[in-house]
Amino acid sequence: MKNSITAVMMTLALLSGLSVSVHARPENENDVAAELFERHCRACHSKQPPPKTAPPVQGIASHYRKAFSSKEAAVRHMVRFMQQPDAESSILGEQAVTRFGLMPVMSLNTEELRRVAAWLWDQYDPAFTCK
Ligand code: HEC
Repeated sequence: MKNSITAVMMTLALLSGLSVSVHARPENENDVAAELFERHCRACHSKQPPPKTAPPVQGIASHYRKAFSSKEAAVRHMVRFMQQPDAESSILGEQAVTRFGLMPVMSLNTEELRRVAAWLWDQYDPAFTCK
């Protein structure tokens, strides 16, 4: 009897531990997107200059702000680009593709790409100037 009570208590402790870790995950849209960036993009993209093996996020955001007047249209283009990168539809232009090479296809799902693209658009800093 005592053993089964212990087992129930341990199960409860485990379950509550699980729910704690579930709730500890970022709930906020911005945190979720920033975490996607850390995990899937950061290896190549720094946030600000100097660049790693790809243009920094702020430079990309700046180019996209010039090319698109709405966030929605910019996000749509970024998502399509990440699913099927091609030099012709690059907003950064030939110079970036020649310097860094074309970005590889991202294996994230469309929803994740949409989230990280929206986050990238929001990283725009008006003080940033493209060289
Ligand atoms: C293996 C390296 C690598 C990874 C990982 C990577 N990128 Fe890139 N990305 C590049 C390179 C190189 C370019 C510049 C050439 C180009 O535009 O294709 C680029 C360009 C871009 C552009 C500009 C596209 C355009 O219009 O030319 C966006 C937006 C972008 N990356 C977003 C992301 C996001 C978001 C992630 C993570 C989900 C990511 N990248 C992960 C290498 C990478």
